[in-house]
Amino acid sequence: MAEMHYHDYLQLEKILNAQFPESDKLNISAHDEMLFIIIHQAYELWFKQLHHEVDAVAAIMSKPALNDNSPELQTVVHRLNRCVTILRVLVHQIDIMETMTPMDFLDFRDMLRPASGFQSWQFKQLEAKLGLKFDDRHGKEYYTAQLRKEHVDVIKNAEGNKSLLELVNNWLERMPLAPELSGDPNSFWQIYRKSYEGSLAEAEKGNLAALDEVFFSDSQPTTHHSPLSAAASRAALFIMLYRGYPLLQQPFQLLNCLLEIDEQLSSWRYRHMNMVHRMIGTRIGTGGSSGKDYLKAAADKHYIFREIAQLNSFLIERRKLPLLPKEMEMRLGFVHQ
Ligand code: HEM
Repeated sequence: MAEMHYHDYLQLEKILNAQFPESDKLNISAHDEMLFIIIHQAYELWFKQLHHEVDAVAAIMSKPALNDNSPELQTVVHRLNRCVTILRVLVHQIDIMETMTPMDFLDFRDMLRPASGFQSWQFKQLEAKLGLKFDDRHGKEYYTAQLRKEHVDVIKNAEGNKSLLELVNNWLERMPLAPELSGDPNSFWQIYRKSYEGSLAEAEKGNLAALDEVFFSDSQPTTHHSPLSAAASRAALFIMLYRGYPLLQQPFQLLNCLLEIDEQLSSWRYRHMNMVHRMIGTRIGTGGSSGKDYLKAAADKHYIFREIAQLNSFLIERRKLPLLPKEMEMRLGFVHQ
């Protein structure tokens, strides 16, 4: 077998010969266009890695019986943590982009039209794999008008598969550890409901109806459209409340990773938006959108795990938590009898 060489292994011939500034073709001086190309390419490579991780996580979570007490859950958490770390790097990469001044950008900006980061199908496919639906996107017409048909198909295909959010919902519904729902006033959820009611300030009294809707509306038709079912919401809340028990530690890490992914994506959106404002003020983007205003609206609307974050409105103080029955404590711990 021929000896492997670094240059061939990494396909550097292709990667290092894939930068063709438009300004060079037109023989116009625009030093920063090289940076602009390389930074976008670096982003796209990291997007590819994020897809690799999210696909692997989805494959594990699609199994009919993900055992919470098995190495699989640890692998899921480990890979989601890696996604978070990559996203942090992506937020910081904006620092490099910002070393380019608006005047440096103007040197080549018009040569790009109508190309725009908006056409990054990998970014939109990632949003779809995580759980963003077409109907929930900001500026739907603009979205389809700007992308190539084959890229819209890639994203639609991702939307057709089970998203990470749906897989998490199914996993939570299957979770065997959360207490059953019952009308008995001494049952776990009825005690919890009472404690929550007692914790509400006068102005928050309406939250009790919200609690009933989110957690106890299993069989009633509901006005509340959430990607999380009532059973899944109960399991998620239970994990958050009792996360100190050994068996709930990994499930808690998993939920926490999802919130961290949303937070990093949102940080990226805000930093990108501010950079855009600084770079082009209130002018329209090269892709023809309203620029900063479009990005602000998308940033506000595109939270993917919003409903999981909102469960935190229903927490109560640790010292008021219902005590778990001994038998349940045993199941959640290391000691098994
Ligand atoms: C000088 C630097 C940049 C400027 C002025 C800029 C400007 C814009 C603008 C105005 C939009 C809205 C669509 C449009 O009208 O074009 C946009 C969208 C976008 N840009 Fe940038 N951008 C810059 C750098 C980057 C970089 C480095 C990336 C990394 C991949 C990126 C990724 C994106 C993405 C993914 C969107 C779509 C966001 C969404 O739909 O939520 N941009 N950009």
